[in-house]
Amino acid sequence: MQFVIQGGKPLQGEVAIGGAKNGAFPLMAAALLTGQSTTLHNIPDIADIRNMIELVTALGVEVSFANHTLKIHARQLTSHELKRDISKRLRASIELTAPVLVRLGKVVFPHPGGCVIGERPIDLFLDGYQKMGAISSVIEEMHELSMERPKAITFVFPSMSTTATMCLMMLGTIADGTTTLINCACEPEISMLADFLNQAGANVSGAGSPTITIEGIEKYPDREIAFSNIPDRVETGSFLFLAAATKGHLTLTHTNPSHQAVVLDLLARMGVTTTITADTIEIFPPDVMKAVSVKTHEYPGFATDLQSPLIIALTQANGKSIVHETVFEGRMFWLEDLKRMGAHVMILDTHRGSIEGPSKLKGKELKSPDLRAGMAYIIAGLVAKGKTTIHDVEIIDRGYEGIEEKLKALGADIKRVS
Ligand code: EPU
Repeated sequence: MQFVIQGGKPLQGEVAIGGAKNGAFPLMAAALLTGQSTTLHNIPDIADIRNMIELVTALGVEVSFANHTLKIHARQLTSHELKRDISKRLRASIELTAPVLVRLGKVVFPHPGGCVIGERPIDLFLDGYQKMGAISSVIEEMHELSMERPKAITFVFPSMSTTATMCLMMLGTIADGTTTLINCACEPEISMLADFLNQAGANVSGAGSPTITIEGIEKYPDREIAFSNIPDRVETGSFLFLAAATKGHLTLTHTNPSHQAVVLDLLARMGVTTTITADTIEIFPPDVMKAVSVKTHEYPGFATDLQSPLIIALTQANGKSIVHETVFEGRMFWLEDLKRMGAHVMILDTHRGSIEGPSKLKGKELKSPDLRAGMAYIIAGLVAKGKTTIHDVEIIDRGYEGIEEKLKALGADIKRVS
C-alpha cells in the first residue's frame, strides 16, 4: 500500500492522541503475569497491537479488543512457545518472555525483530534472567529459558534498556525476597507498568527513577483490574514536529504535556510557541524557525523515536543543525532520501547527521524504511511541493492509528492507494 500526498496545504485543527503503543505491550504482558481478569483502556488500534494479540491468543489466553478497550484474562497458559513468525517481526514480543517464564517455568522464543534501526541485542535480558536463576540455551535458533521461582537479586544494568527494565521488574514482583534494579531506564511507560503491577498486588517502588526496588510476593491475588494506558509520547511529538515543519496551527488533545518537557523546550528554542493545559498542547505557526543541535538520550532526554520527525522540521529552520543519535546506530540512512527531496542534509557518520535550512523540498517516490522514518516521510511529503508517494506504508500502520484520517481532518491532501 502507498500514501500519495500533495504537499503544501495549510494544516489546522484538533487531533486526538491515542494510547501509547510502547505502553500497551507491557500492560498486556503484565496481565499474563498476574493472571487476573484485566480491562485495559486507551489501547491503540494499530497493527503491532493486533500482532501482540495474536501472540497472546496462541498462548491460550482469552482476549477481546474493541473501541480501544482490551479485555484479557490469562487464567492459564497452554503453550510456552512464542509464535516464531510474529515474534521475529515484533521487538515487543520479548516482553512476553517474563510472564511465560514465571507462569510455566519455561519459555521458548526466537530473537525478537522489530524496526531495522541497528543491532537489537537481548544480552541484558538473558543476563538478568540467568542471575535470577534461569537456565538458558539456544536450540535451532530458538532461545529456551527455564526456571523455578525467580531469585531476588541486586542487578546493575550496564546500560539503560526500556524493555529489559520492564522484564526484570516483572520477574522481581514474584521473586523470593527484595530485588533491586540499578541504572534502570526511566520512561513513563515503566512507571505506568509499576502502577499497574502495584494495583494488581505487587510492591514496586522507585519506578521512573534509576533505582527500582521490588518486594517479591508469593503469588498475585485474585482480583479484577481496570487500568488506563498513558497517551503516546511519540505520536504527540510527531504531530508537534509536523505542525512546526508545515507551519500549521494544531491543538493536540488527550495527551500528557508533562511527558514532553524536552520537546516543548526544544520547540521554544527553535522559536515555536506552544501553550499547554493538563491534557492538551496548542502549537502556533512560527514566522521563522531557528536551527538547534540535539543529542538523543534516554528519557527524560530527547527520544530517539522523535529524531526523524524533528529533522524534517529542521530542514525548514534557519541555519545549521547537527542531530546526534546516541541510542541506535542505524537510524540516519534515510537522510539519503531526504537529500533526494532537496534537503541540504549530510550523513556525517552512522550516528550523526547535519541539516542546513531552510530548504525547499520537492515531492518524490519513497519507501518507508522503518516506522519513525516512515512518519518523517509523511511530514516531508506534507511540506514538499508536488506529489510524494510513500510505498510500504504498512510499516507506518504498525505504530500510528488512522494516520491519513487524522491528517485529512487537519486539511492535508493524503490518499491511501493499494
Ligand atoms: N540494548 C542492548 N542489549 C539489550 C537490550 C538493549 O545492548 O539486551 C541496547 C540497544 O541496542 C539500544 C539500547 O540498549 O542501543 C536501548 O534499547 P532499549 O532496550 O531501550 O530499546 P527497546 O526496549 O528495544 C524500546 C522501544 C523503541 C524505542 C526504544 C528506546 C518498545 C517495544 N520499543 O525499544 O521503540 O526506540 O525503547 O526508547 O518499547 C518504536 O516505537 O518505533 C521503537 C523503536
